[in-house]
Amino acid sequence: MDRAASDLVRFIQDRAGAGPVRVGLILGSGLGHLAEAIDGVPIPYDQLPGFPQPGVSGHSPQLTVGELEGTRVAVLGGRAHYYERGDAAAMRLPLEVLAGLGAETLILTNAAGSLDPAMPPGSVMAIRDHINFSGLNPLIGEAGDARFVPMADAYDPALRATILEAAQATGTSCAEGVYAWFSGPSFETPAEIRAIRTLGADAVGMSTVPEVILARFLGLRVAAISAMTNMGAGMSDEQLGHEHTKQMAPLGARKLEAILRAALPAI
Ligand code: HPA
Repeated sequence: MDRAASDLVRFIQDRAGAGPVRVGLILGSGLGHLAEAIDGVPIPYDQLPGFPQPGVSGHSPQLTVGELEGTRVAVLGGRAHYYERGDAAAMRLPLEVLAGLGAETLILTNAAGSLDPAMPPGSVMAIRDHINFSGLNPLIGEAGDARFVPMADAYDPALRATILEAAQATGTSCAEGVYAWFSGPSFETPAEIRAIRTLGADAVGMSTVPEVILARFLGLRVAAISAMTNMGAGMSDEQLGHEHTKQMAPLGARKLEAILRAALPAI
């Protein structure tokens, strides 16, 4: 861990207690209210030097460390996206801090566009694999052989099985599929949506993939769940936009919360 991360870990442990965190969580657009369910200490990012400053509405830029369903968690209520500053590694320091706090498992959530008519807005999908359609990579510039991170089973199969079992136990339907990363911030064109469906994606979004690459580099076990806020461009009459994303995210957020609450004790 570099100096900036270890200083932050000490600062956070002074505020929130030194007990090791079991699970790190990153909450996507409009999915931030889960952080309020945590019995713990919220620390605004502006008190954490090097953390990304709030750039996108619908995110709650604070780190909350505490208990959820008896599990010690650290929740990042907001993320930085590549499209904000052109930095694919924008979440590296927060992820290093999660690992430094003891997290061995990372669960990411995001709002996404669905490419599957059987997954309408409000559906949730556990990510099985991804397509890095942006061609960007947060490890470009990293030295040493550790940068050659294998990405088969980057989304841990056993962890995903635990999540799907938790979904079933709570009567929450949860699909499984492939997420494609587009850089954003513009939405995809209908032609891009047709192309990426042909290439095997089930959902599209503007986040998560660079964080998964970084998390695997840091040795974290990863799961990710998308909440569908819309059908991909050209697949329905919806008018796509960030307002629409924020409006629709709570539908999936309720399901995500039920699944995560049920899964945490088993992780
Ligand atoms: N495309 C990209 N990102 C998204 C979408 C989408 O349709 N919906 C929510 N985030």
